[in-house]
Amino acid sequence: MEPVQGSLIMLSSVIGKGLQDELDILSEHISDNDYLRILAHYDGDGTSAAIILAKALLREGKRFHIGYIKNLGGEGFRERIEENQDIYTIVVDAGSDQAKFVPEVEKLGILDHHFFQEGPAKALNINARNHGIDGTRGACGATMAYIAALNLNEKNADLFPFFLSGAIADKQDIGGFSGLNQKLVQEYGSRYKKVRTINLEGKDMIESLAYSTDPFFDGISGNVENSKKLLLKAGIDPNTNVFDLNEDEKQVLEKVLGIKLISQGVGTDTLKYLETDMYRFPGIDFTSKEISSIIDGNSKLNKNGTPVQFFLGDESTRGESISNWKKYKSVLIDYAYKAYKELYEDTHVRYFYAPESEMAGSIGGLLMLYLAPQDKPLIGFNVSDSITKVSGRGSRRLVNIGLNLSLVMRVASESVGGNGGGHDIAAGAVIPKGKESQFVHIANSIIREQVSPGTAEERQKPVKKAQK
Ligand code: C5P
Ligand code: C5P
Ligand code: ZN
Repeated sequence: MEPVQGSLIMLSSVIGKGLQDELDILSEHISDNDYLRILAHYDGDGTSAAIILAKALLREGKRFHIGYIKNLGGEGFRERIEENQDIYTIVVDAGSDQAKFVPEVEKLGILDHHFFQEGPAKALNINARNHGIDGTRGACGATMAYIAALNLNEKNADLFPFFLSGAIADKQDIGGFSGLNQKLVQEYGSRYKKVRTINLEGKDMIESLAYSTDPFFDGISGNVENSKKLLLKAGIDPNTNVFDLNEDEKQVLEKVLGIKLISQGVGTDTLKYLETDMYRFPGIDFTSKEISSIIDGNSKLNKNGTPVQFFLGDESTRGESISNWKKYKSVLIDYAYKAYKELYEDTHVRYFYAPESEMAGSIGGLLMLYLAPQDKPLIGFNVSDSITKVSGRGSRRLVNIGLNLSLVMRVASESVGGNGGGHDIAAGAVIPKGKESQFVHIANSIIREQVSPGTAEERQKPVKKAQK
């Protein structure tokens, strides 16, 4: 990666003193330890954050190992921390809500952006939300890792691609960057090439459309024949790349795809997401969107280590990183169509069953943004041998009228003997197997309370009726 040219920007111009003081303490812990552990939330944001911290630690000459957390419940978290209590551990993209489960552990630094309930703990808890930063839109796990890395050494400004990949994986770029993300993009992103273009990825236009999940085009995504037909009808060479489209072609295609999204009933922010600022970086063959998709896709297939190794410079993992990326997209598209056909509904929520635990959130996110009616949030269940994983997804519009899924997931899960949390627009939980209907029932009544009666219906546009 290109060295930073005489880095004039200082982190102190981007974050407040309180946050910087906490990062200083983390920097001291890093400098006091030769061997550290990074424990990252397993998803695309957490894994991007792990890449940032790994590269920053390498630069400091530190040794480390990386682990990933899936189970955000107290017991699971304690187990992970106890595996290696003697090593200073940095938990990223999780941890604030979990620190209370290991109150005695001192060798623990947390970089997080989730809502949390405070409890006595000796860990260093650095959470965006403690500093007036909106952890749902203005900062993600990779944002927190990036500022921690910058505080360690301003040369880490060149880890910008992975800050961006995390923010994209957490969908914090929808509607444009805001808060701390926006400041970092302005300050540290200006040295890179960016192009305003259609929000697509892949080597040619057929691949771009057929594998597109964000945006998702009903009947086109997942269907090579239909993708080809659409391109030919629009007069676009199916073998061209999104960056090679001329202005006329871009306009025509954007119009066709925009009409498609409108016919799917998407919200305003989602429609705008058809266009984005796409970054390219020296020494990396992939765009910002592609880096994010590679990291996220591999992570959701439980292959976090593959893109981490690749982006740390191990070329031997390139092929596998790319094939996992495509595999994940195909699986997600297939599951999303199936889940859409089998949506169940209560008065204030719709729900579905996902065949794999790590896919419930991705399917829910896709359906909520691109396919399902916009009037109710979605809950996805994945039932395994003993536990059921739950993922909730809402829309900005529902959040604006009072929806807070973090609260829904926490309260509903606790009342059936589980635990949960997250963000207002996207949250998750783990509950005992067999408690799904009870959970839906409780969640439904909490949601009914949250979205003020009368207003929810009034503000809705006409929606397609959910099947089933
Ligand atoms: O744990 P973390 O905060 O990184 O995860 C947030 C999750 O919420 C991501 O999987 C992200 O894709 C999802 N999300 C969503 N729809 C939104 C915002 C976030 O599905 N509008
Ligand atoms: O698992 P899923 O992608 O649905 O999680 C959505 C959001 O909720 C993520 O930000 C995740 O970190 C958070 N979450 C949580 N506690 C849980 C499960 C998920 O904070 N038990
Ligand atoms: Zn995150």
